[in-house]
Amino acid sequence: MRRHTGEASLAQRYSPHPKQVRVQGLGRGFWLVTALLTLLSLGTTYYYLFGSIDWIMPGASHPVADRASDVDGLFKFMAVFGTAILIYVSGYVIYFGIEFRARPTDPPDLVGVPVHDAPKLELWWTVLPTILLAVLTALSINVWYKIQFGTGAPALTMEVVGHQFYFEYRYPGLKTSVFSKTEPMHLPLGVPVRILITSADVIHQFWVPEIRLKQAAVPGLVQNLNYTPLRAGTYDIACSEFCGPDHSVMHGQLIIEPVADFNKWLEGQKKAAASAGATVNLANGSADAGKATFAQKCAACHNNPPTPFDQKLVGPGLAKITDDPAHPTLVTGKPPTPANIADILQNGFTGPIGTMPNRQANALSDKDIADLVAYLTSLK
Ligand code: CUA
Repeated sequence: MRRHTGEASLAQRYSPHPKQVRVQGLGRGFWLVTALLTLLSLGTTYYYLFGSIDWIMPGASHPVADRASDVDGLFKFMAVFGTAILIYVSGYVIYFGIEFRARPTDPPDLVGVPVHDAPKLELWWTVLPTILLAVLTALSINVWYKIQFGTGAPALTMEVVGHQFYFEYRYPGLKTSVFSKTEPMHLPLGVPVRILITSADVIHQFWVPEIRLKQAAVPGLVQNLNYTPLRAGTYDIACSEFCGPDHSVMHGQLIIEPVADFNKWLEGQKKAAASAGATVNLANGSADAGKATFAQKCAACHNNPPTPFDQKLVGPGLAKITDDPAHPTLVTGKPPTPANIADILQNGFTGPIGTMPNRQANALSDKDIADLVAYLTSLK
């Protein structure tokens, strides 16, 4: 009933034979489909705004930080319009494919309507996405600004330093650092915090998925994250920038706790720091135990089994640490005595060759250090 033939002038130009052209209006089916797609889009919009989307975005219904709900807001904005666009575009593609299909009764030389230009349509499909993107840009800049500069003076400013392959946390008034391998990071609940982020070696990325924010940890550059933790709990921290062989195990935990608990923890750390630093007794080290500890705690950065010095992984090979004519001293410039090897294991080392974490970062006990010294000095 909506099918006409005879308007073949354009098609005739491309063919010596007159062809029949089918011209169809949009018709009732189109408007029915439009109504259906609109209902579907409204349904998904309602779902994103008021439904439970925790299965896509863990913690969406109970934001862990104020910025987390801002970021979720941006996500919802994109999800609402992105899904609606998906529904309309694919809905019309399917509808038009069915409605304007070739029919058995069509003449074999039938061609479609040669449509050129639809200024009205083109105007709208340019203007609407432009408006959407402009609004999204404005909303994003607003959130970005709050993440970068905070919304008030921070009550706590702390530092996160990326290392191969752990995070180091520094707190005001605490002389030693806290390390992700042994201790969770702590933040106080309900007060604005500023986290300064950098790296000691390569580029890492500090990411707490439930807070939704990532920040690259770049050597020589200090970056910011500002937010207020809103929900107590324990959350995962991950490095989300490939940074070397043990990138996949570079993670930690974040504990968000009431201010009183946080202060108690920080005081405990201060006391522990004051009593640390004693000399390790190397007398009872076991080379066999040291071999196992080496495989477990050193092999990410030093070849295992140990190779000559120049065969590096992240750090140098350690096979002939006490007996290498080409390298008569340790990287510290000291002779390779057990005490000097233990000193590097305890305090770490930073030099042109790279950075070796200290014992807290590597989670080495006194026994581990004694065992490792016994093992390394046994290699000839
Ligand atoms: Cu650090 Cu990946």
